[in-house]
Amino acid sequence: MDRLRIGLIGWGTVGSAFGELVREGPLPVELAIVAVRDRSRTDLPRGVAIGAPEDALEADIVVELAGGLDGPLAWARATLDRGTPYVTANKALLATHGGELAELAERRVAALLASASVGGGTPMIETVTHMAAAGQIVRLRGLLNATTTFILSAMGAGNDYESALAEAQAAGYAEADPSFDVEGRDAAQKLAILASVAWRRWRPEADVETTGITQTTVEPGRVVRLVADGDQQHLRVAPAVLDERDPLAVVVGVESMLEIVSRDGSTVRISGPGAGGRATAGAVYADVARLVAGERPILFGGRIG
Ligand code: HSE
Repeated sequence: MDRLRIGLIGWGTVGSAFGELVREGPLPVELAIVAVRDRSRTDLPRGVAIGAPEDALEADIVVELAGGLDGPLAWARATLDRGTPYVTANKALLATHGGELAELAERRVAALLASASVGGGTPMIETVTHMAAAGQIVRLRGLLNATTTFILSAMGAGNDYESALAEAQAAGYAEADPSFDVEGRDAAQKLAILASVAWRRWRPEADVETTGITQTTVEPGRVVRLVADGDQQHLRVAPAVLDERDPLAVVVGVESMLEIVSRDGSTVRISGPGAGGRATAGAVYADVARLVAGERPILFGGRIG
């Protein structure tokens, strides 16, 4: 079997970890090109072509791990329009333009996958996709942002907000602009994506009523977390005091957790590392594995699998 050629846009924490997986992993794929905006960077890989993002769109599979909105929207449109699969970890792109992109993918019979956009290395989108097939999901509830969980658990242990945020940033969990984490937008985008998958209709971030943690205080002994919660009608992200018997209350540090409640009242609970280069790159690689297997899935709506 010929190796599929990957055009990788972005060489940051996740991009470089994904590049390593492509080199070492078992799939018949290769990095045809690594595309970055600034080609004079000194940390780019050797032995692979380096180009501009537009050059990567010629590959068999385009993997976008660059972040941002305008560039990724143009790249995703161009890629899907020519029927090429587009794999991304870009939450903002999906929570802002996901509906348009899914429709384009459907029209062009192209795949659109983004398992790494929610849950990092924890297969949340994959689990929700699986359960959505039977149409039985009635509620999603979880802790979707590692940075705020990290900060609030540190505050519960007596640290102040600023030092906890600085620690989360040093550990590499926080977004480039941490206001995205602490104002709840990262969690809101993730909830919008999960809801779109669960109920097979695209929901934008604007549908999520969002309160961040910038004004939150944590009384000693209390467990406070930024909880994402939603059903088909209403999506909400807000800090909440959790009962100590609540399964979400055991989540600390970088862990994320999602509860998926079905119509019969049963709950599937999934937790694991919600951020981090290697774990997140594994989710991107798993999307590529589906493409290698010949599937042409679209993240939400349209065809599943
Ligand atoms: N800033 C995000 C978080 C990274 O803290 O969960 C993973 O999306």
